[in-house]
Amino acid sequence: MNENYLNKIIQGDCLELFESIPDNSIDITFADPPFNLKKKYNSYKDSLEFKEYLDWCEKWISEMVRVTKPSGSIFVHNIPKWLTYFADILNKKADFKHWISWDAPTAPMGKSLQPSHYGILFYAKNLKKLKFYEVRYPHKRDRKTGYLLKDYGGKKALLHPFGPLISDVWTDIHRIKHNKRRDSHPCQLPIHLLERLILMTTDETDVVLDPFIGTGTTAIAAKHLGRNYIGFEIDSKYVTIAKEKIEKTHNNSQIGDSWISFYLNEPRTIRNKDWNELKKYFNIPEDLREIDNTKITLISKEDIINIHKPKKDEQTYFHFQLR
Ligand SMILES: C[S@@+](CC[C@H](N)C(=O)[O-])C[C@H]1O[C@@H](n2cnc3c(N)ncnc32)[C@H](O)[C@@H]1O
Repeated sequence: MNENYLNKIIQGDCLELFESIPDNSIDITFADPPFNLKKKYNSYKDSLEFKEYLDWCEKWISEMVRVTKPSGSIFVHNIPKWLTYFADILNKKADFKHWISWDAPTAPMGKSLQPSHYGILFYAKNLKKLKFYEVRYPHKRDRKTGYLLKDYGGKKALLHPFGPLISDVWTDIHRIKHNKRRDSHPCQLPIHLLERLILMTTDETDVVLDPFIGTGTTAIAAKHLGRNYIGFEIDSKYVTIAKEKIEKTHNNSQIGDSWISFYLNEPRTIRNKDWNELKKYFNIPEDLREIDNTKITLISKEDIINIHKPKKDEQTYFHFQLR
């Protein structure tokens, strides 16, 4: 591990910066590169020739695989068009795990088959050694009635109180639409999208590297969850924004001893294996069939503290993050 880079955002070209990262030293790598769609970045020109773009992508994808540990994961976010080429590159160097489809709806205007999802390629450096945790998200409900959207028929008593295991289609994480939650960057990702990937594939203190960190989303997600990060970014303006945001971020995305991901102060992703520890912090109806129309909620902060009994200097006994 290059200790000089740990928990830092380094300004520079990722291909040059990768050179100082040793082989097999990073727990997971995540990349959200420019999509070559002529987006207006501050300095980067997002319009390379077809082959030029793909040759460049092959270089940083190869670097991601090289630096990732044998137990680690490699994630690449992009539009389906480019992912078909990236998969071909990755299939030669790592083991396919999943193609996650992130449904990020747009209004259907103009023509049919408008892109309405992004893909996240999920590769294991070595499937046999992969570190991977099952994760759950809250049940989807009808906004007006509060009833579950999915019909579980006679099986309601068997429902998991928190929610189902995630599939490879993610429909519960929206793109950042509101300007007040957006930095002056054209393609900022939601923090809880990264938190889900991190919870699935890392443990506390593991290292997450993002070679195109933009305004810091991956680093913020890692810090929330008690992980370490390394971020590369070519544009000094984005580096400054990222550093300011990370400074204000705490590693407190936790209830009791379990790291979880929140969105707007509600748990959004939990690890399946943590549920036995976590369930005491939720109001859960005795008759589980009531989950059909009753969302489970967190108990009060005071009750969480009473149950968890945090040590005097412990800052991370629960999370109520301002986002
Ligand atoms: C799609 S954006 C990443 C956004 C990021 N995921 C976020 O949520 O803020 C791609 C970023 O890569 C940066 N970039 C472009 N070429 C680069 C290079 N060669 N090395 C490092 N960063 C680069 C751009 O400045 C841009 O901020």
